[in-house]
Amino acid sequence: MTELTTTLTGYAAQARDDAHVRDEAAAADITQENTFDVKGLNLFYDKTQALKNINMTIKKHEITALIGPSGCGKSTFIKTLNRMNDWIENCRVTGEILFEGRNIYKEVDSLALRYRVGMVFQQPTPFPKSVFENIAYGPRIQGISNKKKLAEIVEESMHQAAVWDELKDRLHESALGLSGGQQQRLCIARTLAARPSVILMDEPTSALDPISTQKIEDLALQLKEKYTIVIVTHSMQQARRISDRTAFFLLGELLEFNNTVDMFTKPANPKTEAYITGRFG
Ligand SMILES: Nc1ncnc2c1ncn2[C@@H]1O[C@H](COP(=O)(O)OP(=O)(O)OP(=O)(O)O)[C@@H](O)[C@H]1O
Ligand SMILES: [Mg+2]
Repeated sequence: MTELTTTLTGYAAQARDDAHVRDEAAAADITQENTFDVKGLNLFYDKTQALKNINMTIKKHEITALIGPSGCGKSTFIKTLNRMNDWIENCRVTGEILFEGRNIYKEVDSLALRYRVGMVFQQPTPFPKSVFENIAYGPRIQGISNKKKLAEIVEESMHQAAVWDELKDRLHESALGLSGGQQQRLCIARTLAARPSVILMDEPTSALDPISTQKIEDLALQLKEKYTIVIVTHSMQQARRISDRTAFFLLGELLEFNNTVDMFTKPANPKTEAYITGRFG
């Protein structure tokens, strides 16, 4: 299945049991300082171990950057945070991930989790619908049908994703006709419309030009006041510019995790230094 199909499947599944899901979300402990506490996490694709004993704390209202060479497990890791790997056959996870203090595999409904932990992919994935309907999709599935309310959510989400001014006159045009940068911000608006508290972004700017990249980076910095953000990036400059903490992955291990300034000025591990200075990877 493509990621878009799995997202759609997830949304459809989410529609099944909405009231229950909302109860779960309301039960979350939002006073927690840490958004995620990852403890001894291992992940296997069949017999191949892709994540090895990951221990990591992701703090609320911070931007955490995940860096490391291709194939080191960044996407695998970020997808465990909202259990998107559940849809991959033969994928097995051991260890614990606490989301706002509760174990995501034991105490949190997986559908509720995906409402609260939204995801933006490398390639923008607009649905073949209008701009408006793309953004209204999540709220509709959550049971909101009042037209005025939907219009309010769409406008608010588009403002938050810094795309309202550009697209307010194109609400009823197909989202597929937008530029890549506009599509990516539309996808961020769509994620925000589902009322998450965390936004996971897997290389959200790697397909974008420098101006669109700058817009997404500015946006991430604004959004962290209200949301916790985890972002995978291959750009060392991007990690330095926007993140509070940086995690360096290598061959499925979390080799170094520190606040971003320290990581980039005095990396503890020689392999981290080699990677961030472009000497390997
Ligand atoms: N669905 C899957 N089934 C089997 N192996 C997988 C699957 N997805 C990823 N892997 C393997 O797990 C390892 C980590 O992959 P992952 O996609 O997490 O890397 P990454 O750090 O995101 O790389 P990139 O920077 O290229 O995106 C790789 O060896 C990859 O081949
Ligand atoms: Mg990846």
